[in-house]
Amino acid sequence: MPTDQLPRQCLGFFPTPLMPLRRLTERFGGPQVYIKRDDQTGLALGGNKTRKLEFILGDALAAGADTIVTAGAAQSNHCRQTAAAAAMLGLECHLVLGGQEPETAGGNLLLDQLFGCHIHWTGEHRKGEDIPQIVDYLKSAGKKPYVVPYGGSSELGALSFVAALKELDSQCREYDLAFSHIVFASSSGGTHAGLMLGRKLLELDCEIVGINIDKDESGGTPFDQHILDLANRSATLIGGEFQFDNSDLQLNGDYVGGGYGVVGDAERRAIEFMARSEGILLDPVYTGRAMAGLIDLLRQKKFGSEDRILFWHTGGAPALFAYADTLNISDPPPI
Ligand SMILES: Cc1ncc(COP(=O)(O)O)c(C=O)c1O
Repeated sequence: MPTDQLPRQCLGFFPTPLMPLRRLTERFGGPQVYIKRDDQTGLALGGNKTRKLEFILGDALAAGADTIVTAGAAQSNHCRQTAAAAAMLGLECHLVLGGQEPETAGGNLLLDQLFGCHIHWTGEHRKGEDIPQIVDYLKSAGKKPYVVPYGGSSELGALSFVAALKELDSQCREYDLAFSHIVFASSSGGTHAGLMLGRKLLELDCEIVGINIDKDESGGTPFDQHILDLANRSATLIGGEFQFDNSDLQLNGDYVGGGYGVVGDAERRAIEFMARSEGILLDPVYTGRAMAGLIDLLRQKKFGSEDRILFWHTGGAPALFAYADTLNISDPPPI
């Protein structure tokens, strides 16, 4: 089944803008660098999850769900966009957030509260461990819950990025552009799996380069295997008769630094450079790290001067307001 026949609920504004990054390009004097602004998807301060939720919540509504349950970190962008989408659709929303409730709610957590969702703190429990009990409780209360997987990285979430690549492809045709590389933050794998699958289906000659954000393996499965499995399951869902293997996957693990959410100098400089030179906000956890990786690859001249690079901005800026202390923006921004 083609992706345009899947149930889809409109939640954002598409296509998102495609723009040149002139000062970043000038700074390194090599390949041209562009940006795809999924921070501007329009749903509650934007982000890549808006695309995934259009397909996932389309499925939830088709299944008759009245309550959405999902999980993430306290500063999850996925949870914030899910809470906003649920509010927009008149659905009850339950967020299962990792750790203890902080004394003050800032950034994404403040917005979660504003969207009126129910928040369950996991304390010491592993991520997702509490979801079955919450689902049982909701069913016993007569609700019809629908669980959105961590990061929205189900097959439907991945397929939304096949549609996203089609969107980019038509912008490229309109502006007579072609990209040799697409660079982005990869964390729960849905964006990555979808872009890989889209590249295959559209027969694009473009490298899909995920910058790994997190040291931890996904549920015990190595992250590269998790992305391949998801890409293969998503392909099967739309009738694809091929299998991806390791030779199809580019996952760069060189920039995980101090681990998930630990802001180092590389992220700080990337965030400052993009703010001060391009007027664009990156986030401390995902896009700041992915841009730090891209800047390092540009500095190391890993791309040819004929290459054209797309940085896919996947959102996350609301988390900046929860990282005010660690960002320490008084330093000058040398990159
Ligand atoms: C801002 C941002 N960028 C990138 C990602 C990673 O996308 P994916 O989970 O599809 O790998 C996330 C995931 O939460 C995110 O919030």
